[in-house]
Amino acid sequence: MSEVLGIGIAGLGTVGAEVARLITERGDQLAERAGRPIKVMAVSARDRTKDRGVDLSGVTWEDDAVALAARDDVDLVCEVIGGSDGTAKDLVEAALEAGKSVVTANKALLAHHGTDLAKRAEANGVALAYEAAVAGGIPIIRALRDGFVADRVQRVTGILNGTCNFILTVMRETGRAFDDVLAEAQALGYAEADPSFDVDGVDAAHKLALLTALCFGREVDFASVHIEGIRRISPVDISFATELGYKIKLLGVAEIDGEGEQAGVSQRVHPCMVPVSAPIAGVEDVFNAVTVDADPVGSGMLQGRGAGAGPTASAVLGDIVDIATGRMAPAFGRPAVALAPAKAAPPSAHVGSFYVRLMVIDKPGVLADITGILRDEHVSMESMIQRGRDPMEMVPLVLVTHEVAESAMQAALAKISDLDVVVEEPAMIRIVEG
Ligand code: NAP
Ligand code: HSE
Repeated sequence: MSEVLGIGIAGLGTVGAEVARLITERGDQLAERAGRPIKVMAVSARDRTKDRGVDLSGVTWEDDAVALAARDDVDLVCEVIGGSDGTAKDLVEAALEAGKSVVTANKALLAHHGTDLAKRAEANGVALAYEAAVAGGIPIIRALRDGFVADRVQRVTGILNGTCNFILTVMRETGRAFDDVLAEAQALGYAEADPSFDVDGVDAAHKLALLTALCFGREVDFASVHIEGIRRISPVDISFATELGYKIKLLGVAEIDGEGEQAGVSQRVHPCMVPVSAPIAGVEDVFNAVTVDADPVGSGMLQGRGAGAGPTASAVLGDIVDIATGRMAPAFGRPAVALAPAKAAPPSAHVGSFYVRLMVIDKPGVLADITGILRDEHVSMESMIQRGRDPMEMVPLVLVTHEVAESAMQAALAKISDLDVVVEEPAMIRIVEG
């Protein structure tokens, strides 16, 4: 067996502690798969006194995580601190410049600096691997990078945030309130240190930006992702979705818009209504899924656990063993210098069907006013539901449209919001076939 691969782990939280435990307790299995022993040489976290639930005797502690990059006994740095800047970025840059491969679960870092870090890795002849950063335990990066090399991806769609999928599933199944279910997701270790990244769609957008770069050969372009989260999803919309035969999911969708040189990529993260019969609608709880539509492979979906210590550490170890065996692929499937410049398609170019819920005063003429606006903006309705019959109170009015340009739908909603009889901001959810 050849020489030991020395690992430096930065961050010993949910993910880092589990990575350290697996390397320590499954050393023989990993050595067999890697063809060489893998050993944790040094670690870093903020609090040296904290019990990590793993035996770190004989492992050097570094107060400054960046110092891991300079250690002679560390061949590979595993960055599981998190955050798009600060220590995580300093460490990853230092490691790559020192000629050490990096394995990270940090999608925020890569969404903001992925192209630059991939170029640094290639310039120094080392790997930048991030399987754990997208959809946790699902080997989607490998599948897209190594499996679909002959394909042209047309669209990638994913449930990319386990916390949101968990919250939406539990809210639908139990009727419990959003805040209550979010607290449970945090206690289970699914949520980010700042849970607003989860529920406001930012975490899913980080991951989508990486999938887009990989699928479409473009530089990572997080700034162009259109992002909406799940805070405004109410029990009443969940109930109407069920009645209409849909489930509400937070989806990330990236697709080519336009032809040839003119083609841009649209990247969107927002709640969607998905028909209950669609495979992605069956992906519940903390599970993630990614559907890829590509030519000639067709349409397929991978699903699995997208968050939590075990699934994430499993993906980190997959990358570490790859590097130990010498399997090194460019981060985004082709040399970083060959990635095309990012070119975004505007979200208003999107065409689709929409669910709209209005809270209206139930009096004569309301429907005529609303349908008049829809007519003027060329929005055609597929169906409508109205509940209640009390002229003194507001009632929900639900509209489902045929396919229409989003720009037309938004223009209609702006006018509808201004009507005196519409007493709340309209709720609009895009319908996606899955
Ligand atoms: P976490 O539980 O909050 O752990 C973060 C760790 O980083 C802690 O051990 C903390 O030290 C350490 N740390 C913070 N600042 C540091 C610094 N300046 N120097 C050295 N160590 C520092 O986070 P996590 O859930 O393990 O997530 C880690 C990364 O994996 C993130 O990028 C996250 O997005 C990603 N990820 C997480 C999951 C998941 O399910 N949790 C899934 C996929 C990807 P102390 O323990 O001493 O405070
Ligand atoms: N907070 C993330 C999620 C962790 O809920 O999916 C995995 O990236």
